[in-house]
Amino acid sequence: MKIQKGQRGKMERNKKREILLGVCGGIAAYKVPELIRMLDAMNADVKCILTKNGSKFVTPLTLQTISGNKVYEGMFNSHDFDVEHISLAKQADLLVIVPATADVISRLACGRAEDLLSSVALSTKSPILVCPSMNENMWLHPATKKNVDILNEYGYKFVFPEKGKLACGDEGMGRLADLNKIVDEIKKILKNE
Ligand SMILES: Cc1cc2nc3c(=O)[nH]c(=O)nc-3n(C[C@H](O)[C@H](O)[C@H](O)COP(=O)(O)O)c2cc1C
Repeated sequence: MKIQKGQRGKMERNKKREILLGVCGGIAAYKVPELIRMLDAMNADVKCILTKNGSKFVTPLTLQTISGNKVYEGMFNSHDFDVEHISLAKQADLLVIVPATADVISRLACGRAEDLLSSVALSTKSPILVCPSMNENMWLHPATKKNVDILNEYGYKFVFPEKGKLACGDEGMGRLADLNKIVDEIKKILKNE
């Protein structure tokens, strides 16, 4: 079928944007299904990479059901012939890590690649948005600050945590940013892509 003048632009606009969500082992992982719903409403195709510890907080079944896509968990359990971390990294328009734990931020800052999420982060050419969430002392620790600075230097984007009631019962800095704020940042990044 011949593509008419102006039609290609329309097709591009209607193309589903592919968002990879890296879900880590933080208490705020319970908010991720709601975030997927919000991304679905903006016509994005959402695929989740769930860390081993992330699966203690939210189940692959929940993420799979809400996203309508397979959930990627390990590096060594694919039955496909392609190298999963490379193909996921290539397909994604954007990688969003939410909630990003202190541990994953440290892994990324060190350029580690021992799990699927950090391997994808290291091999993708797409933008990476990090949405941290943790206890205030973890967030304010110089090690975390240094790791965030390193990632900033590498070009990672952030939606920083907010002040509020934390899972540990404390009131302080470290609560996952409001989901609307995260979605706004995702839209902004995808628009500039
Ligand atoms: C109940 C509980 C809640 C936790 N919440 C957080 C959290 O909000 N943020 C964080 O950085 N780590 C949190 N942790 C610690 C992480 O689960 C731990 O650092 C883990 O290694 C992270 O693994 P991942 O980054 O590979 O998912 C929590 C641990 C437990 C047991």
